[in-house]
Amino acid sequence: MQIGAAMKRIAVITSGGDSAGMNPALKSIVEEAERNNISVTGLLRGFRGIADNNAIEMYFKTISGIARKGGTILKTSRYPEFKELSVQKKAVENLHNEHIDGLIILGGDGSMRGALALSKLGVPVVGIPASIDNDLYGSDISLGADTSLNMITHCIDIIKDTASSHNRAFVIETMGRESGYLALVGAMATGSEALLIPEVEYDIESIAKRLKSEHANGRAYSIIIVSEGTGATSDMSNALKTIAKLDTRITVLGHLQRGGSPSVFDRILGFRLGSNAVQTLMDGVSGVMMGLMSKKIVITPFIDVLSHKKELGERYVKFATRLSH
Ligand code: ADP
Ligand code: F6P
Repeated sequence: MQIGAAMKRIAVITSGGDSAGMNPALKSIVEEAERNNISVTGLLRGFRGIADNNAIEMYFKTISGIARKGGTILKTSRYPEFKELSVQKKAVENLHNEHIDGLIILGGDGSMRGALALSKLGVPVVGIPASIDNDLYGSDISLGADTSLNMITHCIDIIKDTASSHNRAFVIETMGRESGYLALVGAMATGSEALLIPEVEYDIESIAKRLKSEHANGRAYSIIIVSEGTGATSDMSNALKTIAKLDTRITVLGHLQRGGSPSVFDRILGFRLGSNAVQTLMDGVSGVMMGLMSKKIVITPFIDVLSHKKELGERYVKFATRLSH
């Protein structure tokens, strides 16, 4: 393998849950590589593509027009087999055989664990945080979270129309496997009445009693955002029906939150993270994840990314606490 400025060929995968901004990042990786006479191999369907050596050549034609597209042109997958050392070793062998000098991995925390595993086996790897959950330490924001929040806000705005017409309560479930970020910022952006996230203690009964009193005092409708990570959607709805006596509906936003054309923010972030990832490999630096901290591009070792829990921040916790009772 050629390391640093002598690199001739790099590979790239997108892994785990897809997110808007993956395609802009891919475009920028290929463009930055071409500017530096480096060829790019795309391995299809995440880690599965490395283990199966399922590859495509990426060049200006492959990436033409992809910045405005959601999802990922390289496809993705959940591939639990990659946790096995024998599969990882096979992947490393394939990368050697294909003369790959460096690898860029776009994905969430699971994908960064796979990245660390390959890095420990001697592969120069750089990660790019791409997950709507925005739960990766080392970056203020992950690719896709902004686009997802725009979709969540749009959907809640629409639901408010019908909620208001019928004087109803709507329990809206947002994604986020173990992270309440989408629910919290969605609640902030829409001025919702209540919020349940896994990171902050909540009291369903007290929320129901509060909303009962607010409706008795003239509130026309209520929006209660529940993060899927709490598993509390039905309980919240039942409490609103039985304690607050409100006409209540549940809307699960589901995978609507994961698609759609990348927002301007996710496009620009994708471009910045993509080109910087190539430069980082060219500088001979690996075993790190790129990130955006206080508007600056930074790198954090995988070990640190994976050994720290991303905190929500004091201002966010204060806001969530107020809406959780
Ligand atoms: P995300 O990256 O969005 O968090 P997953 O948790 O599904 O999504 O992880 C994506 C993929 O990363 C997994 O399907 C698997 O191939 C790989 N992966 C996850 N955890 C590990 C691990 N501990 N070791 C090696 N590979 C892993
Ligand atoms: O990790 C991203 C995510 O969208 C989570 O918010 C959600 O829990 C999960 O992926 C859904 O996974 P799947 O696409 O396998 O249904």
